Amino acid sequence: MQSAAPHPAYNYKVVRQFILMTIVWGVLGMCTGVLIAAQLVWPELNFDTPWLSFGRLRPLHTSLVIFGFAGSAQFAASYYAVQRTCQARLFSDGLAAFTFWGWQATIVIMLVTLPMGLTTTKEYAEIEFTGAVWMAIVWIAYGIVFFTTVTHRQTPHIYVGNWFFGAFILVIAMLHVINHLSIPVSWFKSYSVYSGATDAMVQWWYGHNAVGFFLTTGFLGMMYYFVPKQADRPVYSYRLSIVHFWALITLYIWAGPHHLHYTALPDWAQTLGMVMSIILLAPSWGGMINGMMTLSGAWHKLRTDPILRFLVVSLAFYGMSTFEGPMMAIKTVNALSHYTDWTIGHVHAGALGWVAMITIGALYHLIPKVFAREQMHSIGLINAHFWLATIGTVLYIASMWVNGITQGLMWRAVNDDGTLTYSFVEALEASHPGLVVRLIGGLCFLAGMLLMAVNTWQTLRNRQVDQTQPSSTAHAS
Ligand code: HEM
Ligand code: HEM
Repeated sequence: MQSAAPHPAYNYKVVRQFILMTIVWGVLGMCTGVLIAAQLVWPELNFDTPWLSFGRLRPLHTSLVIFGFAGSAQFAASYYAVQRTCQARLFSDGLAAFTFWGWQATIVIMLVTLPMGLTTTKEYAEIEFTGAVWMAIVWIAYGIVFFTTVTHRQTPHIYVGNWFFGAFILVIAMLHVINHLSIPVSWFKSYSVYSGATDAMVQWWYGHNAVGFFLTTGFLGMMYYFVPKQADRPVYSYRLSIVHFWALITLYIWAGPHHLHYTALPDWAQTLGMVMSIILLAPSWGGMINGMMTLSGAWHKLRTDPILRFLVVSLAFYGMSTFEGPMMAIKTVNALSHYTDWTIGHVHAGALGWVAMITIGALYHLIPKVFAREQMHSIGLINAHFWLATIGTVLYIASMWVNGITQGLMWRAVNDDGTLTYSFVEALEASHPGLVVRLIGGLCFLAGMLLMAVNTWQTLRNRQVDQTQPSSTAHAS
């Protein structure tokens, strides 16, 4: 993966900063997740306060975990991996620092405006006009830092992980700008330039690809760097990784209409979205298998290495959610699953099982390296974190499956005379136990994140510096 060229002095400072903020936003975003999960069990936790209401905290939760937690993780991982695989220092310390502070400012804008009720109302694109423009500027700076570093590489070819990071950066820029095109009427109020079914289609073209590129492609870049590193094995098949890349980015972009089944969207577009989603199973599983098989001959390491366990289990959840997604995209299945907790279960199989787990594994790998410590303070705590995260995810998704299928079946049940068998409130009552179990699952996952925060804090306090690490950390400005 790397040439024998001497290490240039890498910029690890920005990597360290993004790592710490990944943990901070992860904890805050998951606290918000636990709070809204509790509100669905005990609605009085709204405290009759507008900014504490579910409707305002839900987009805050999704924004903090997607842009704060998953976003910062991808900045950290891509900035680290691109330097190591290109054997080149990150382009422009100043611009890299701008992307760090600029991105944190974006999240703070979300943190303030969303509870105030300032929102475009477009899911995962709620940030209003001024914030969206700022976000685009920061993202373009990210692209300049990343791609210029790639052009400065000392290696003959571009490592496949960088292809994934690069596609993630380019496609997110395109989606963000096109979906946010709007007419501002004040600093924080604007109206979309699209209307009706077109607006819905553009939004879900964005929404699905936010999943495909913000919650998948960048993390596949992470997989292609950190799984071989942690397993100490080369990627199972480099050829498969190239096929994986082109097939994935070609197909994802067409699947958005599966979010709009049985709506005013033309029927042919819905069918196209469904078919493309089913085909998407192939590259998704190709990538998952490539990651898993990288462990060939190294499976025994799973017994002793909890970091590797995080990475491998994340791939198992990736495989699971990318099997479930194409099934849910089939119109007849979607007729049952849409609007129910099944969708929420699917989301978190991907979000907790895949996105959060691979991030956590990558961070445990990275922290000792970029802070020049021998290893994490406590391997026992990493182990405890692993079990809390796994049990938390399983409780979350299993309860949502049960709830989703129960809700779907109760809503569609009809009596002989054509009237509904169950009222909405009856379906809600039947969902109550599942909502409690989901809350417990969320608490487990959050507890694991808190252990990670403690473990990281203790690792940083530990003065025993690892002398074998490249001196670049000391040089990093
Ligand atoms: C402690 C962990 C977490 C808990 C307890 C939690 C809880 C929740 C709850 C209660 C909802 C609203 C569900 C509803 O409207 O019925 C939600 C939505 C959502 N969460 Fe989480 N969450 C957690 C972690 C995460 C993470 C790490 C991510 C992403 C990386 C994530 C992404 C989302 C998304 C995308 C939605 C919106 C789903 C949709 O609209 O279909 N969550 N979460
Ligand atoms: C082959 C891959 C996948 C396909 C075909 C797929 C398909 C689907 C389908 C059909 C829905 C339900 C749409 C609806 O009824 O409204 C959905 C929702 C969702 N999926 Fe996936 N999925 C895939 C992978 C993933 C992964 C890996 C993640 C997370 C990392 C994810 C995150 C989400 C989110 C956040 C939603 C909720 C969107 C919303 O309504 O707010 N999906 N997906």
